[in-house]
This record gives sequence, C-alpha cells and structure tokens, in this order.
Amino acid sequence: MLERSKDTQARAQELVVQMTLEEKALLLSGDGPWRTHKIERLGIPSIFMTDGPHGLRKAQGLNLAESVPATCFPTASALASSWDTELIHQVGAALARESQANDVQLLLGPGINMKRSPLGGRNFEYFSEDPVLAGHMAASYIQGVQSEGVGTALKHFAANNQEFERMVSSSNLDERTLREIYLPAFEIAITQAQPWSVMCAYNKVNGVYASENPLLLQEILREEWGFEGFVVSDWGAVHDRVKGVMAGLNLEMPSSGDVNRKRIIEAVQAGQLPVSRLDEVVASLLAVILKAAESRRTGARFDVDQHHALARRVAVESIILLKNEDHLLPLDAGGRKKIALIGAFAKEPRYQGAGSSQVNPTRVSHAYDELLAIVGKSERIGYASGYDTEGGTTAQLLEEARQQARNADVAVVFAGLPDSYESEGFDRSSLDIPEGHHRLIEVVSQVQPNTVVVLMNGSAITMPWVGRVKAILEGWLTGQAGGGAIADILTGRVNPSAKLSETFPLRLEDTPTSIEFPGLNQRAHYGEGVFIGYRYYDKKKITPLFPFGFGLSYTSFAYSELTLSAPSIQDTEKLTVQLKVRNEGRLAGKEVIQLYIHEDRPVVSRPEKELKAFTKVALEPGEEKTVRFTLKPRDFAYYNTALHRWSVNPGRFDILVGGSSRDLPLREHVLVEPAQVVVPALTRSSLLKEFKNHPKGQAFYSRLAKVITGETLEEPGRVKRTLQEERARKKAEMSTMAFVNELPVYKLIAFSEGKFTEQMLNDILAQVQR
Ligand code: BGC
Repeated sequence: MLERSKDTQARAQELVVQMTLEEKALLLSGDGPWRTHKIERLGIPSIFMTDGPHGLRKAQGLNLAESVPATCFPTASALASSWDTELIHQVGAALARESQANDVQLLLGPGINMKRSPLGGRNFEYFSEDPVLAGHMAASYIQGVQSEGVGTALKHFAANNQEFERMVSSSNLDERTLREIYLPAFEIAITQAQPWSVMCAYNKVNGVYASENPLLLQEILREEWGFEGFVVSDWGAVHDRVKGVMAGLNLEMPSSGDVNRKRIIEAVQAGQLPVSRLDEVVASLLAVILKAAESRRTGARFDVDQHHALARRVAVESIILLKNEDHLLPLDAGGRKKIALIGAFAKEPRYQGAGSSQVNPTRVSHAYDELLAIVGKSERIGYASGYDTEGGTTAQLLEEARQQARNADVAVVFAGLPDSYESEGFDRSSLDIPEGHHRLIEVVSQVQPNTVVVLMNGSAITMPWVGRVKAILEGWLTGQAGGGAIADILTGRVNPSAKLSETFPLRLEDTPTSIEFPGLNQRAHYGEGVFIGYRYYDKKKITPLFPFGFGLSYTSFAYSELTLSAPSIQDTEKLTVQLKVRNEGRLAGKEVIQLYIHEDRPVVSRPEKELKAFTKVALEPGEEKTVRFTLKPRDFAYYNTALHRWSVNPGRFDILVGGSSRDLPLREHVLVEPAQVVVPALTRSSLLKEFKNHPKGQAFYSRLAKVITGETLEEPGRVKRTLQEERARKKAEMSTMAFVNELPVYKLIAFSEGKFTEQMLNDILAQVQR
C-alpha cells in the first residue's frame, strides 16, 4: 500500500506538470455536489464522495431524503460507548464494502469534534467529550474503511462544537485549550491512521476561517502531524478561495461553478498566487484521486443480512446499563411473567439522527417485534403507545399506558428524544426529554414497581425520574438493528458491557458552558478552557447524574495488583502499567478498563485526571486476565504555551485504573524526573521570587530584596519588644516580603529612585545568565 501511495504521488507530480492553469483550477472545485472533475485529456478520473459517518448516504442531488439503501449503524455516541476499537474497525470495513458496492470512493466521516456542551446539535454524530477516546475510535474507523480501499474524510477540522451560526461563528480559545482538548483526537487519528482526507470546518478559529487557516491546515496538519492526504472544505465552507489555496485547502465542495475557478486563475495571473503553491495543492489532491480510482472494485456487492447482523452486534456492544436495582434485568424471557412495552419508540424507534448523516436503512428492527420473537407468546406482551411523534401525550394515552403497566409484572418504557429535538443544523435548547415522555414514566412507575426505562437519544439528557424506576438502559441512537439489540440486552441473551462516552449531568446549570453556550455576535468564547466534560465536573466537585466511563453489567469485576514497571522514570521514558481484572459473577461479561493520570503539583491548572488509555476484555465467570498499558512521555505532558510545545513537569503522577471515571479502585504513583535539567533563564522581567528559587539567582536575592526593604529586616531577638509590637512587626514584614517577591526585578530601579541602577541590574543578570 505504501509503495502504491508513493507511486501515485509520483504520478500525480508528473500529471501536474502537464496540466494547464485552467485544468488545475477546475480540479480544485467539485463537479456538482458529490464528485471531483474528470480531466479526460490526461486520463484523470473523477471520484465520488458521500456521507457518512454511520452509514452510506449516496444521494443524487442535495436532497437529504433520497439515497440508496444502506446499513444504518449506531451513531458515534453509541459507537464510542462500546469502547471497542476492534469492533469499530469492523464497522469501518463494512461501510467501505457498501461504498465499493455503490461506486463511492470517499466516505465523509468520521466526525470527531469534542462535545463541549451537551446541547451541541451534532453530539449524536460525534464520539466523545474526551480526545483520547474519540481519537482511538476514529483511528480504528479510518483503518477499517481504508482497509477496503475506500477513503475517509476526518471532520470537522477544527473546534466545530456548535450548530448555532455554524457557518460564520468564531471559536475563540486559548492555545493550550486548542492543543489539549480540541486537536488531540485529530492528531491521534491522523498520525495513527492517515485518513485520505480531512474536512475543514465551517467556523472560524480565533477569527480565521478554518478553510483558510494556515496554522491549522499547513503548520499543524501537514508540518507537525505529517498529513499526506487532501483537505476538502465542508460543503460551502469556502470564503476567500485564494486564501484557502495559500493555506492548504485542496478541494472546494460542492462545485462553485466557475466563480472560484476564475479567482484562482486571476490570482495566478496577477502574481498573487504562486504557481508552485497551486501545484502543491493540486498534486496532493490528485495523488488521492489516483489511489482511490485504483482501489475501485467494480461490480462489488455487500451482504445485506451480514451487515444487519453486524449492526445488531455493534448496537448490543453500545447499549449501556445505567441502573439495575434488585437485579430487575435481565427479564425472564422463558417464564410466565407479563411484560408491558410502553412508548411509541418500541414500535417506531428513533435510531438515527437528522441532517447529512441520515441513512436510508436496508431494514429497521423494532424492540416490540424482537421481544415478541424471543418471548414467543403474544399474550405475555402488552403495548401502549403513550405519546405521539412529537413526544406529546393525552389523558387517554396515559390511561392506556397505566392499564397495561398495571396488568403486567414488569413495564418497559421507551423514551428519549424525538427527531425534532436533535439534529444537525441547530443546537438543543434543553437537556430534557419531552414532557409527554416524563409524564409517561411517572404514570407507569406509579402503578408498576418493576419499571425499566429504555432510552433512545443521541446525547446526554436529564432524568428527574431516575429514583422512581428500577432499571435504565441507554440505547443511544442504535442504528437499524437496535430493536434486536435492545431485546438481546433486556432478556440477557447478551450481557451489557458499554460505558458512557460522555457525562450525563444532573442539570443544565451544572455544565461547563452553561453560562455562555453557544455565544453571541458570532463569537463562541471557550472560557472554560481545558475543563470540559468530566474534567469540569471533577474540578468543580459536581456530582453528575452518571459519570463519564460509567456502565453496569449483569456480572461484576474486581481489580487488583496494579504494578508499574518502575517507581521513577525520566521524562523521555515509557512506563508500563500492569493490573489484573477478574469476573466475580456467574455470567460471562466484558469490562472496559480505563487508565487516568493525575499530576500531583502541576505548574498549570490541570484537570484532576485525564484518560490516557483503555481496553475492553472478555471474561468468563471466575476468569482473571492481566492487562497491560504503556504510557509514553506525551501522556504525562501539558501544552507549554511559553515554549509552544508539549512539556512534562517533573514530579509525582498518580496512575488511576478502574471501570468508570468515578470508580478507580487501583492507584499507584510514579516519579517523573527530568532527563535534562532545564534551568529557566532569568531576565529583567523575572520576579524576585524567581530569583529566590533559582540556582544562580539565589545568591542575589537578599541583595535585591534589600533595595526595597532597606535594612529594616532585622535579626530576631536584637530589639526588645512587647508581644503585641513583635506581632505587628512580623505582620508588616510578611506583607512587605509578599510585595517584594511579586516585583519584576527591573522595577527596583524606579522604586529605589535610581539608587539601584540599570548597570547594577545588568551586572547581576550577566552573572545569573552565564
Ligand atoms: C456537513 C458535513 C457533511 C456535508 C456533506 C455539511 O453540511 O457539515 O458533515 O459531510 O454537509 O453532506
């Protein structure tokens, strides 16, 4: 594959030399909404691209409702909740087989933006609030798709975290926040999986459109991370096309006719756009076009049944058991108990989101039918719809539900977010599910103590009824096979093993962005900095409804024997972490093991803990497995904005391991020592306290302090004072020293009215800088 890519790059270079200026400009904008231009004269083929991410939406035009039948897999929040990278790889490969069968060369996904606020309209389409989880999910997805000869477009680069005014809004954030929260998922996916393309976002980042942002598209993406593919604009994200080419935006989508083509030509003719730059941008696009055309499998087909079965397996791995009091679940499918299925979602599930990702499924399974098929006897299953499509209810609908619940041994209420509550294009206005769903759960739980709630929603919701029901399943947007998957979990045919890929807060007011989201005047100020998701709830000591990483099983797991490869390491070395996990119950199950680090004395305001590694293991009853993780220097680092690079601050780091961000039974620490002692340079702006703590500056500290204090600091016991006088003196001395320590050293010149001279300062600096 590598040889081939080298080969296509060389051929692309050769072709660029033969292309006219007009042909180059033509190639840089789409041919209609979904394909690139063909240039017959030179044998340059056209490639077809389509959404993505969790199913193929091959449309003919821009009409979202018409597309070829394709398998609708669970959406990204669900996929990430599986924490199963191998499974995501399989999803990717299946998506690629469907792409090949439909002659699609590039799939527009995955979407990996961070869930800055739970209100984000596309949260259902994004993996997580944590960059490490999102990054690894994305890398596996990309590897899966590309293993079958289809490209991906990793999107939306970067800081695309809201739908409100998404085409113009500026995401304004500081450098460290960008580097530590909003970029790493892209970095992991790009450096590990090399997607064939990256889609730049609609929004601006710190005032510069992502589609014409040299920092993002050139410096970071290509120079730092070594991205080799092409950058495609989000559909309609181009503003100044020439600036875009200069910054590294290869392909404009959809077509802008000859509008931007002319601008490129004119800019070259006017000498504003160097031909060499244009050629670079054309060549990297062309290399992927050639590779994609070569990987085309004409006449390929996919197995609809097999892919539906895979979608069911994936959904099963993504459904989270949030609560299970008195072991109400799993339900006894073979017994005599009557089960009331309540809520229209049982028969008309909400299984995917809306917008560009909307798939036309090959089929859709319903929990009602699937449960009936497992239970076998229709007299054991009752049903009431409970609400209408918008989530509204009536006294009659509630009464029917009440009757069904009363006449059964257990009630399963299906609730969540209707289509109109969650979509690409707008943000949610509240974390609540519709009033009709709330009331239904209340009414049912009043008459039926054994109530289970099954949720269908793409992002976090509130649950004021959490204490009134015994069991809760978070189904997410399960994809087309969700009905069967829910039935599998409810009846215990499969043991649940998913964990939350995002925090469920108790209320909107608790969330990190509740004051400012989504921003006004086309500006989104990321004032919460690096503290999004669990990083925020941890720091503020806020108890969420359900924490990040949380999820139950029908069995239980015990953690033990955490050992580190060394008690101390240098900041350039790796650390191996090992531990044991045991299945303590009587059922086979899977556990997601999460490793977080905590820095003891950071030099910047750091989260209480940060996820650094995870894995999912299958364990038979009584079985124990050893799990190993390797931590690299970067896992301990923070982004140092003074040096514009990652730095490890020497000191103690705790390694925390467990099954949820708020349940980490194993803890061990490691000392990280600097491989090279870097002594910070003292300058005229250094504070006096910095002299005090500096190996060379120390010697000058008391002389410098005396410039302010004079000789007033006396030796203890020299002068006789009353206790009160002595206390007053000490107090004054303390505040004088606090003042002195915070002074930049050059201020001593003015404070001493010139007695401490510029020359004296320079002499000292020369000695400490030597
Ligand atoms: C969305 C992208 C999508 C594209 C093409 C845009 O509006 O933001 O995610 O891939 O349309 O449908």
